[in-house]
Amino acid sequence: MKSYNIAIFGCGIVGSGVARILLEMNKELSQRARHTIQLKRIVELRPKTASGKNNIPLDLFCGGGKDLTAEEAGKYIDEIIHSDDIDLIVETIGGSNDFIYDTAVRICDAGKHLVTANKALLALRGKGIFEAARKNKVSIGFEAAVCAAIPVIKTIKESFTGDSIISVSGILNGTSNYILSMMQNEKLEFKEALKLAQEGGYAEADPTLDINGYDASHKLILLAKLAFGIDITLEQLSPIGVENIKREDIDFAEEINCKIKLVCYAKRENGKIYAAVKPMMVKNDNFLSSVNGATNAVRLINKYSGRHILVGSGAGSLETASSIVADIVFIARYAEKMKYHIEQTNYDFIDAKHFVFPYLIVFKTVDIPGITGLVTTSIGNQHINIDTVSHNRHIKEYAVFSIATTPCTLKQIDDAIAEIKKNRPDVLLGEPKVMPILY
Ligand code: HSE
Repeated sequence: MKSYNIAIFGCGIVGSGVARILLEMNKELSQRARHTIQLKRIVELRPKTASGKNNIPLDLFCGGGKDLTAEEAGKYIDEIIHSDDIDLIVETIGGSNDFIYDTAVRICDAGKHLVTANKALLALRGKGIFEAARKNKVSIGFEAAVCAAIPVIKTIKESFTGDSIISVSGILNGTSNYILSMMQNEKLEFKEALKLAQEGGYAEADPTLDINGYDASHKLILLAKLAFGIDITLEQLSPIGVENIKREDIDFAEEINCKIKLVCYAKRENGKIYAAVKPMMVKNDNFLSSVNGATNAVRLINKYSGRHILVGSGAGSLETASSIVADIVFIARYAEKMKYHIEQTNYDFIDAKHFVFPYLIVFKTVDIPGITGLVTTSIGNQHINIDTVSHNRHIKEYAVFSIATTPCTLKQIDDAIAEIKKNRPDVLLGEPKVMPILY
């Protein structure tokens, strides 16, 4: 069998998992790839730590196991990119800065296949990288970038090519789902649940991208590109994370038989696309409501084949690494034939303000006679039909209550809130929280 040579750039949590699987399963992987898979070289600043984690021989590391300076690592990266002896490079350095972007483009320009788990890089700067791959007839494997080993990229790219995807919705960030689950099940406040997520190793030391919705948005951007052929920007999504969810919001969700989830949602409707990443009220009979802890799930609704759900662990060293290795095997075996090209389409976006959902609006107001009537009158004035009004909760000097609407637009809700503010600037204590209800 012909040899198929791999290099890894960045041997941290994920990269060292890739090295371990390539070494431990070498025989099976080579049979599956119809090539002798060989891990040839690894570039890593701190080889001893990487080697210790997964028992990787130090002689695979450039520099023979010595710590490298950034400059030395850069030189090895250059050398490998231009080496005739390497067929495919795994990028597990992470980040989306110019160095990483240039490295990805240079790998493709040098005629080498690229496999990466780097969602931020592909979601924010993928255009130039995919273009370089297309121009140089090389493949980019990125199954690991969305929900680790859950085969959602392959499902969309290959299994559903005989159908038309109508919507993609999912829980794509395990950390925020863990936090919401703990708030829900253990009756914790956000800060307590975040602390548990950090202690349990679910959240990063800096969990910003997990809790502000950006990590989930990077994944939705990639799924929407594959499902609909569109490029969505972070600005278009304007994600809302879970950091402002309060215990009382969860209690209001329970009253209408819902769980609050950070939902990634993209839907094709009348030739236009709606896309959002925000906390939503998910009805208890929607499968996504029962996805707890750090688990990820993706729900796809297709024109002909209906509803499909993929569930599994969306993070972790070996989970992500196994997905990278699967891409390596697939590319080694089929690269000559696949030359996958993502078809671009030009959909218009539906302005979030005009997309119709049923909504839950949580109001925090001064506690005075007639307050519920005052709020519901303004809602009625905007022709919004109210489904349910929750029990008011009286907490010291203020009240909180929620109103579930039948389907309407955000614009109608904004106008109702503007009317309340205009008529009684003194009653609202903070901006009402508005969350779509997902059936
Ligand atoms: N930090 C992510 C999560 C995994 O919590 O799901 C990597 O994207």
